[in-house]
Amino acid sequence: MKKTIAIYPGTFDPVTNGHLDIIERASGIFDKVIVAVAVNQSKKPIFTQEERKEMITNVTSDIENVEADLFEGLLVRYAEKKRATVIIRGLRAISDFEYEFQMSLTNRKLSPAINTIFLMPNEKYSFLNSSIVRELASYDADVKEFVPAYVLEKLKKKFRSN
Ligand code: COA
Repeated sequence: MKKTIAIYPGTFDPVTNGHLDIIERASGIFDKVIVAVAVNQSKKPIFTQEERKEMITNVTSDIENVEADLFEGLLVRYAEKKRATVIIRGLRAISDFEYEFQMSLTNRKLSPAINTIFLMPNEKYSFLNSSIVRELASYDADVKEFVPAYVLEKLKKKFRSN
């Protein structure tokens, strides 16, 4: 039987409870979910691509059909290489819509057989993004509600060493 492989792409600098919420939902729908960490130098990430991937691997270790990977270049080319037919994106608020709409239609133009599916995280994460988490952590504010415990430790180490 054909297995449906879905890619959940993003910068994940770092992975948050909001991302994890989407990953858990997706893992219940698709046979396999690949969480794909983008290079995205334009965002000047504080964690290396390897560190971002490692954190995802750690916090999803109990979800059997989820794996983390790295990608560079066009998302749809990467998805084709992985034989994925679905791209997952989280929609937190109306403000996400325009950008996501544009990205999803562009990806469809580039690779018509790949569909983008939007999932909504629990509303308690609708305001959350990685920038907010990084900013709070940089001021030593408590972010334990927003990230898994493992990521919390990595954030503390990162800002202590800077
Ligand atoms: N919970 C918490 N935060 C969430 C979230 C959720 N459920 N969903 C998204 N976010 C946050 C992210 O943390 C990120 O925050 P930040 O900007 O503070 O870092 C923000 O919302 C959106 O970013 P993200 O989901 O990481 O996506 P992105 O916009 O950085 O990544 C790529 C976009 C990497 C998927 C896209 O640029 C891409 O595909 N690049 C490859 C090149 C390509 O193919 N380009 C053509 C595409 S049209």
